[in-house]
Amino acid sequence: MHIHHLLENNSIANKFIAQLRDINIQTDRMRFRRNIERLGEVLGYELSKHLNYNDTSVTTPLGQANVPLPAEDIVLCSILRAGLPLHNGLLNYFDDAENSFISAYRHHPDNDEKFEILVEYLASPSLDNKTLILADPMLATGRSFVNVMKALESMGTPKNIHLVSVIGAKEGIEYMQSEFPENTHLWIATIDEELNERGYIVPGLGDAGDLCYGTK
Ligand code: URA
Repeated sequence: MHIHHLLENNSIANKFIAQLRDINIQTDRMRFRRNIERLGEVLGYELSKHLNYNDTSVTTPLGQANVPLPAEDIVLCSILRAGLPLHNGLLNYFDDAENSFISAYRHHPDNDEKFEILVEYLASPSLDNKTLILADPMLATGRSFVNVMKALESMGTPKNIHLVSVIGAKEGIEYMQSEFPENTHLWIATIDEELNERGYIVPGLGDAGDLCYGTK
């Protein structure tokens, strides 16, 4: 898996992520969702530099202009719930992509910190020979991405896989390295050191789905 770590370099995207993390700012749900969306736009732009392009010509009022346009059939898939604002950001750039949605949530069968990931809902076009962009802002244990990818196998085999996330934990990224094909790309804004005993990213930002939508 190729890891593209956005905040290794200084950019205005640092501000978006600082606001997502800040306990005094993240309570503004509209700003929280919009900051995730903005990071979807930034990550989508970086990712777009790695797509294949075809030379095309467009007619202007004054002549012909040559423009390279993406040559890949893109499917944007987001993991419910917190993937939705990230999905919107990506869709602002890949506006003619097909879309798919999948649910994944943590189920604690023994009411302790051990959990399994349950995938219950999937709506997707065929992925055969397409470019799959799979979005989830929090990459904690990596198990949601892995389980979702297994569920998506029933929809065909994509030619290219790009995973997009905002905050990742080192441990989860290492696990995903062993589960995803080598040619998978991970586009991630920032990487944190630790997970706590409940599998939350530390320092992270808390529960992204709850902060986006106020649901528990
Ligand atoms: N999901 C979240 O929203 N936050 C975490 O820290 C881990 C998973």
